[in-house]
Amino acid sequence: MNDTFLKACRGEEVKYTPIWIMRQAGRYLPDYQKVRSKVDFLTLCKTPELAAEVTIQPIDILGVDAAILFSDILIPLEPMGLKLRFLEKKGPVFSNPVRDRRSVEKLIDIEPEEDVPFVLDTIRILRRELAKKVPLIGFAGAPFTLATYMIEGGSSKTFLNTKRMMYQNPPLFMELMERITDNTVAYLSAQIDAGAQAIQIFDSWAGALSPADYERYSLPFVKDAVKVLKKKGVPIIYFVNNCAGILDIARKAGSDVLGIDWRIDMAKAAKQIGKKRSIQGNLDPLCLFMPRDSIREAAKDILSKASSARGHIFNLGHGIIPETPVDGAKALVDAVHEISSK
Ligand code: CP3
Repeated sequence: MNDTFLKACRGEEVKYTPIWIMRQAGRYLPDYQKVRSKVDFLTLCKTPELAAEVTIQPIDILGVDAAILFSDILIPLEPMGLKLRFLEKKGPVFSNPVRDRRSVEKLIDIEPEEDVPFVLDTIRILRRELAKKVPLIGFAGAPFTLATYMIEGGSSKTFLNTKRMMYQNPPLFMELMERITDNTVAYLSAQIDAGAQAIQIFDSWAGALSPADYERYSLPFVKDAVKVLKKKGVPIIYFVNNCAGILDIARKAGSDVLGIDWRIDMAKAAKQIGKKRSIQGNLDPLCLFMPRDSIREAAKDILSKASSARGHIFNLGHGIIPETPVDGAKALVDAVHEISSK
């Protein structure tokens, strides 16, 4: 198996810089569209053979160094009692958002093998099919990011309901965060037991908080989860979107790797993160619309700026967008491999 990705996560020496791409299994790939045209998104997530098939597509098409389980961060919220739908164009919607004490108390603790068996079955299929290829990354949303979806009932620009609960009823907010954290730990532990060889925790909306609020309302829960999950022995990546103002705080979560978005300079981020953790990132996803030569230059710049880091896993600064030309993604993978080869 190609273990370059796992080595870079641990800060071990590698022959070249590994790369994978957030949302690498997705709508920009015609092969994904073909599978997706027959089933809706949630059915795709809940059908292990199909979920495994689309997980593997980018490994063969792009030549990336890790696979990420095809699923969604919102999947474990369904068995917790939230009614989830994905609407075309609008994205995820919960018809029963969690906004008061009664709905927090009504939440159900999940038993992963019983409540999300399809996720664990997908992992087991993938470990067999990827055995000679690349490692498999499992994932979950960070508690704060999941809380925003639960409280807002979907995506949000202002996070009005989330911040209203946070500021008007902090004990209730903290109670909700604890429930989410416990369930996230159970969910990720089950993924590791089923065979996930690394895990990523997505804090997509951490950057919506002030540094003080991030430190109070998001970080402690990620830190608690990391502390428990570390005992499982697989590398933990903590992705913090819009991290520039909070990177020095996010470090304290204790993850093996910090994933960063593109709004911060890689050299600056590498310096802030220090030598105890590896770094993942951070090309602007829209750079994949540039001509091949420019993509190569952009990759070269990031690779050289990350050279002082303990370890570097190349990635985009956030998910690849559906309109992206596949050739742009291929050009990036080839450039990273070629430039970084020693
Ligand atoms: O990275 C991968 O290839 C693995 C699969 C993956 C998906 N979602 C598939 C998906 C992963 C890791 C996620 C994580 C996820 N989901 C996050 C965190 C990462 C981030 O983007 O910040 C969040 C916030 C979600 C919630 C979510 N899922 C939203 C807001 C949406 C709608 C917006 C959109 O992009 O359509 C989704 C849908 C979704 N998740 C799709 C895919 C492939 C598109 C569904 C489709 O095929 O129509």
